[in-house]
Amino acid sequence: MEHSIAQERRLVTAIPGPKSLALQARRYAAVAAGVASTLPVYAADAGGGIIVDVDGNSLIDLGSGIAVTTVGNSAPRVVDAVREAVGHFTHTCFMVTPYEGYVAVAEKLNALTPGGHNKRTALFNSGSEAVENAVKIARLATRRSAIVVFDHAYHGRTNLTMALTAKAMPYKKGFGPFAGEIYRMPMSYPFRDVEGMTGKDAAARAISMIEKQIGAEDVAAVLIEPVQGEGGFIVPADGFLPALSQWCTHNGVVFIADEIQSGFCRTGSWFACDHEGVVPDLVTIAKGVAGGLPLAAVTGRAELMDAVHPGGLGGTYGGNPVACAAALAAIETMQELDLNAAARRIEATVMPRMLALAERTGSIGEVRGRGGMIALEFTVAGSTEPDAAAAASVAKACHAEGVVILTCGTYGNIIRLLPPLVIGADLLSEGLDVLEAAVSAL
Ligand SMILES: Cc1ncc(COP(=O)(O)O)c(C=O)c1O
Repeated sequence: MEHSIAQERRLVTAIPGPKSLALQARRYAAVAAGVASTLPVYAADAGGGIIVDVDGNSLIDLGSGIAVTTVGNSAPRVVDAVREAVGHFTHTCFMVTPYEGYVAVAEKLNALTPGGHNKRTALFNSGSEAVENAVKIARLATRRSAIVVFDHAYHGRTNLTMALTAKAMPYKKGFGPFAGEIYRMPMSYPFRDVEGMTGKDAAARAISMIEKQIGAEDVAAVLIEPVQGEGGFIVPADGFLPALSQWCTHNGVVFIADEIQSGFCRTGSWFACDHEGVVPDLVTIAKGVAGGLPLAAVTGRAELMDAVHPGGLGGTYGGNPVACAAALAAIETMQELDLNAAARRIEATVMPRMLALAERTGSIGEVRGRGGMIALEFTVAGSTEPDAAAAASVAKACHAEGVVILTCGTYGNIIRLLPPLVIGADLLSEGLDVLEAAVSAL
């Protein structure tokens, strides 16, 4: 794919450079301190797998703005579609005078999400908003109130989604009181579960707790990320998701897959649920779907989605026409470039190198993930004790060398790789060289 921005890492100043530092000073005087940044280099341009900062440094992007620029930054089709759309109209509000783009996005999402059943879609602005609406729909459709979530879950920072999210600091601490009727169950986390615990065992553990502590007949929905994102790229053991999904079906409980981070080619298939043939009742979508423009969705069974009275769902900006045009172009790009195959190629490159690195250095307890969603869990050598300092030090070293890399995890001890799926093989390889050097230097 051709980019107007040279696909190469090039550092011309220290990171951050003087112009970024000057902007950082302005920022501290103007922007709320509660909004933090991983790396204080200020972006001027970005394309493909490169971010160019205001000092002229070109950095390799292994974070995709937290799993958003799956099709690359300023992807050509997305840019053209946005230009075209914005010249026609920027907003009418779908709830006032609707437009085709919204309908076309709904048709696409209905077709691409798992399952051949009759579906409907509603569009929103952010992932949190999509999750909130999925909960609203499940509660209204079932006339039940309890929502089951899991350890290490991340579902957002609005009031309801804070209650759904597991980690207190920084997401919840001091922001209560939180919404009620949320019940947290143990996740399948093979690296930290007792040895030999299968996915079925882990599901049975959670189901038994649900039945004893809530009662199946009071549960509206089980909400789960099929591969957890912020919690640490935790891939549940095989069989965990199918067993939960089957239990939901047998008990009239809505199974909601939060695919906001794992969806849209990220794991090498359209949705992470596809890997085990799991068909959720509702799917939440955001991030990668619109090439960087804010768009989110709930897609699901027509009978659940249509249970809501007219006017019960919506919002001023939900399904903005420019964001819809971007989504249609991003999805075309995914199809045309076969970004599912690209994600699998990334896995085939990254996995063996990271496994060898873990073997060599002893500071990585586990390498895991799927497609373009791979994590290194740092632990004190010879144990499973989380080593957050190691992850922070590796991230810092990568940043200084011009590689944008993110950490995550309940224990803050995880480096996560989320490259744009259009990243060139050489650029990816160079990013991994920098990462390997940083880990080796621990
Ligand atoms: C799985 C998951 N759900 C929900 C959200 C919240 O999305 P947003 O930040 O767009 O509100 C995120 C964001 O990281 C996420 O990864």
